[in-house]
Amino acid sequence: MSTGKKIKKVTTHVLHEMKHRKEKIAMLTAYDYSMARILDRAEIDVILVGDSASNVMAGNETTLPITMDEMIYHAKSVVKAVERAFVVMDLPFGSYQGNSKEALMSAIRMMKETGGHAVKMEGGSEIQDSVKRILSAGIPVMGHLGLTPQSIHKFGTYVVRATEEDEAQKLIDDAHVLEEAGCFSLVLEKVPAHLAARVARELTIPVIGIGAGNEVDGQVLVLHDMLGINQDFSPRFLRRYHNLFAEILGSVQTYIQDVKNVDFPNENEQY
Ligand code: KIV
Repeated sequence: MSTGKKIKKVTTHVLHEMKHRKEKIAMLTAYDYSMARILDRAEIDVILVGDSASNVMAGNETTLPITMDEMIYHAKSVVKAVERAFVVMDLPFGSYQGNSKEALMSAIRMMKETGGHAVKMEGGSEIQDSVKRILSAGIPVMGHLGLTPQSIHKFGTYVVRATEEDEAQKLIDDAHVLEEAGCFSLVLEKVPAHLAARVARELTIPVIGIGAGNEVDGQVLVLHDMLGINQDFSPRFLRRYHNLFAEILGSVQTYIQDVKNVDFPNENEQY
């Protein structure tokens, strides 16, 4: 439900208030200036500079290869375009799992070099010390549970997570641990809707779902998937709002024809 309240700049405080007045939070990924400008103009609440950039921007099979330098490059470009949205940046694989000191140094570097507003990390109780340490430096942290793509080789598949009782209980416990450690928000990826609804009810922080049903506090999608730029990925939870792959393909084919037929440029398109 929207109250129609005009928000000038989204902050962690605004997101917290949105949960409590039951206004859904809309979040999308962006990795570059031009797309981030459109998202911000549309008044998206949160932009995630996701490590999904590894797949959709760099063509890698997993999110594991993306580096800190590459994430910083993407985040810097996004931040330059944004006036209103809250910008969250994924800490890449290998930059925080080792120990909490390393996690803090990575988070500080990310914030200092990009101007973004918060970092996101995957994992539950195993990252609680890192969450607390990063928070002690005044950096907001978003958690991420359920399907955690940085652990793909541990799980071996991208199927729905926490369908069994013990994994579901672990997820609920981890969600509470992350809230108590101080996370300002939590992403739940590809888990049963009833489980996500329970976590959203039990936590006071906003829970953002992707493939987690609609009884959570907000939704996130990967921009290139929802725009239909990326055609290789069609999970059940994905709603495609456009078929940009086909649109761009058609435009490029028309341009090629125009060039070959010496139709472009015409008299008005030259000096
Ligand atoms: O990297 C990413 O795009 C993400 C979303 C899928 C939540 O983490």
